[in-house]
Amino acid sequence: MLRKQNVAVFVSGGGTNLQALIDAENIGKMPHCNITLVISNKPDVFALERAKKHNIKSVVVERKQYSSLQDFDTALIDVLEENNIDIIVLAGFLTILGEDFTNKYANRIINIHPSLIPSFCGSGYYGLKVHRAALDYGVKVTGATVHFVNEIPDGGKIIMQKAVNIEENDTPETLQKRVMEEAEWIILPQSVEKVCAERSNNEIENN
Ligand code: GAR
Repeated sequence: MLRKQNVAVFVSGGGTNLQALIDAENIGKMPHCNITLVISNKPDVFALERAKKHNIKSVVVERKQYSSLQDFDTALIDVLEENNIDIIVLAGFLTILGEDFTNKYANRIINIHPSLIPSFCGSGYYGLKVHRAALDYGVKVTGATVHFVNEIPDGGKIIMQKAVNIEENDTPETLQKRVMEEAEWIILPQSVEKVCAERSNNEIENN
């Protein structure tokens, strides 16, 4: 029998990508996924309001509460195990995860990055900084990438990408908005569904 994959979404901010995932699930576009948990590394972010509104359990795990990255990783793993999580989605989660975490969940952590990797990615490239870098360089096309997470920042296998044109008068803010609307909110739910469907189908074959 088909088992839906339990998905945890990690957030640090406004949570528009979390909203895109919730909306996709609610209209039946993610039939192999069950978003059951939201984890935030900050207590007062709007993403937590979105989780509450949709009756999704949320937990705050702050990096500063732990003296080492290993202890932070362990705290996150404990919460994920308590909640039987299969797949983790980093949707604007802006804290580094340690190797204990990325190794344990190899091929089960999905990240969205607001550029076409390998451009404008890696350590220090997040949020508006990515779009500012694209505009400063003068590229005419940017976009978004969904990829698996490994120990190299933005270095894991690519799942999906979508290109977005840069317009003459773009600012980092207008570009961020267009990349979200035309790429991120589309390919993130599609990618998560793809990964969950593959896992669910493998479970059937192996039973
Ligand atoms: C998104 O644009 C996401 O791609 C980016 O942060 C934003 C979060 O927005 N992530 C990174 O830059 C990761 N390197 P949201 O909270 O509204 O989803």
